[in-house]
Amino acid sequence: MISERLKILANYVNKNDIVGDIGTDHGFIPIYLIENNKINKMIASDLNEGPLDNAKKELSLKGFLNKVDLRIGSGLVPYTPGEINTAIIAGMGGNLIRTILIDGKEHIKYLNKLILQPMHGVEELRRWILNNGFRIIDEDLLFENNIFYEIIVAEKGETQKYDELNLEFGFNMLNKNPEISKSFLDMKIQKIERIVEDIESHGSSMSQLRKEQFKDRIKQYYEVRKCL
Ligand SMILES: C[S@@+](CC[C@H](N)C(=O)[O-])C[C@H]1O[C@@H](n2cnc3c(N)ncnc32)[C@H](O)[C@@H]1O
Repeated sequence: MISERLKILANYVNKNDIVGDIGTDHGFIPIYLIENNKINKMIASDLNEGPLDNAKKELSLKGFLNKVDLRIGSGLVPYTPGEINTAIIAGMGGNLIRTILIDGKEHIKYLNKLILQPMHGVEELRRWILNNGFRIIDEDLLFENNIFYEIIVAEKGETQKYDELNLEFGFNMLNKNPEISKSFLDMKIQKIERIVEDIESHGSSMSQLRKEQFKDRIKQYYEVRKCL
C-alpha cells in the first residue's frame, strides 16, 4: 500500500503537469497518479536497474506498463530537455537532490514545478531553490514510521525573500499541523541540547563559543515553538 508520504507528494501533481519521477524505485508514485486519474502518461527513472525492475513488476501487475516510460540513469540525464515540466525527486538526501538540479541546468528552464522530499540537508536545498528562480509555494511536515519528512513544492516565480529560519523551517510548513511541528522542534532541541552537554563535559575552550551559538539556537527554537 502506498505510504501517506508518497500520497501527499503525488497529490501536488495537477492534470496538465508533464511529470518525471526521478528515483522512482517501486514506481509507486506513477501507479498512484494513474490509478487516481491524475495523469495518463508519465516518465519514471532510476539510477539503478534493481529498482527499475521493481517498478516494471509493479506497473505490469497493474497493467500500466504502457503508460509509464521507464528509463535508467542519474537525475535528469535520462530526460530530453523540455520533455517534462514537473520533477518529483523524493526519498534522497538534500545534497543529492541539489546536485541533480544543478547538473540538470539545461532542464531547469523547462521545469515549472519541483516536488521534493529530501531526507536531510533541507536548508541548503531550500537555499538553492530560492536562489535559482523558484518560489516555495507549499510545504508539508509529516511523521511516519517514526521519521519526520519534509516536503517542498516549488514553482517558477518571482524572488522570495527569506531568512535563516525560512531555510530551516520553510515559510508555512510549521503552521499546517502545530502538534507535529512541536514534536519536530522538540526533536531538534533535544539534539542540540545533547551537543551542548557534550561540549560541557569534553569541549575545549575553543568550543565554548560554539556552545553559546547552540544555546542561542535552542532559544530561537523555543520562540518558534511558542508561536505554534
Ligand atoms: C530511497 S529510494 C526513494 C524512492 C521513492 N522516490 C520514494 O520516495 O519512496 C531512492 C531511489 O533513488 C534512486 N537514486 C539514487 N540516486 C539517484 C540518482 N542520482 N538518480 C536517479 N535515481 C537515484 C535509488 O536507486 C533508489 O531507487
